[in-house]
Amino acid sequence: MASEAAAQMNFQTMEHPAPMPIDQRTQVLLTPGFGTQFTDHMVSIEWSDTRGWHNGVIGPRHPIQLDPAAAVLHYAQEIFEGLKAYRHPDGTAALFRPEANAKRFNDSARRMAMPELPEEMFLEAIRLLVEKDNGWIPEEEGSSLYLRPFMFASEAFLGVRPAKRYKFLVIASPAGNYFKSGAPAVSIWVSSDYTRAAPGGTGAAKCGGNYAASLVPQAEAIERGHDQVVFLDAAERKWIEELGGMNLFFVFDDGRVLTPALTGTILPGITRNSLITLLREEGLTVEEGRYSLEQWREDATTGKLVETFACGTAAVVTAVGRVSGHDGEFTIGTGGPGQLTQKMKDRLTGIQRGLVADSHGWVKKLG
Ligand code: PLP
Ligand code: COI
Repeated sequence: MASEAAAQMNFQTMEHPAPMPIDQRTQVLLTPGFGTQFTDHMVSIEWSDTRGWHNGVIGPRHPIQLDPAAAVLHYAQEIFEGLKAYRHPDGTAALFRPEANAKRFNDSARRMAMPELPEEMFLEAIRLLVEKDNGWIPEEEGSSLYLRPFMFASEAFLGVRPAKRYKFLVIASPAGNYFKSGAPAVSIWVSSDYTRAAPGGTGAAKCGGNYAASLVPQAEAIERGHDQVVFLDAAERKWIEELGGMNLFFVFDDGRVLTPALTGTILPGITRNSLITLLREEGLTVEEGRYSLEQWREDATTGKLVETFACGTAAVVTAVGRVSGHDGEFTIGTGGPGQLTQKMKDRLTGIQRGLVADSHGWVKKLG
């Protein structure tokens, strides 16, 4: 049904009357940072209970008008995705596993009582935007064009029930290193006062509310001189879950690798899933299970744990060097990036950038 619906969506195209001049854009692309610069265009599609998905437009990026009673502003019915377009050596643009983002978007939509978007329509919206803003894909190693599809409840209604009108938009932002420091390994703060998600909650959905709830503990991490916050489980306050915007992997001296299992309270990362496959191809044993903060500290201290890395679309693969909490601090390995972390980062980014063969059909060339 998805492709039928996509075929019915004739996107209207509107040219930007004054796109950013090329020399100015070239300057932006040299040091893109993360999430502060935006391309010239955006895609929008609307949904209503009477018409379904309609009014697909690719046109100039512009501020959106919202009624002050729009449900998203009151009850946070909002979900989003994050994926990247990469410049390949042959000059083409490519996406990495965009169908996985389309699928996760709909998983999030169901959890938040929102309409699903046909996967083909999600993919077509992204393809159109990357085609239109192709000149915005940075070429530097470590840079890419970050794509942000999102959907929110636009109906003006203050009763608490699923809205009857939504907007789906895609915007794009040239991206370099997610971490401002650009340090080879990040340091993280264990939040003991706050949790991110409880069993039965929305932790596995990519909804804005999860990130709103993470801002205070994230600010606490920054205040204490760390890059990111790591959350423990909400029930026992014992097991490591994930960072504010990344999944975690633990590497042991016997060739075993562990990552927290998808129990419903953490985001099922596409980078996480890809790395599990790539690590197994390296002959390593990857377990999805539980790992306590106490064990992490003990294993790091005895040297049984040799590396820890965080991963996600924005953060790619980033070594964790130092961990602090109310109970003190510990260092992992040498405090810098370990061998396996570096190897997996090179392998994953090599596939994404078209430098390493993609034997999984993960890379979608757009031309
Ligand atoms: N966990 C959280 C909370 C995230 O926001 C993200 C980023 O999307 C991830 C994990 C990693 O997911 P992915 O690898 O699909 O980007
Ligand atoms: C991503 O990696 O795409 C995310 O959404 C994480 C966010 C912290 C930027």
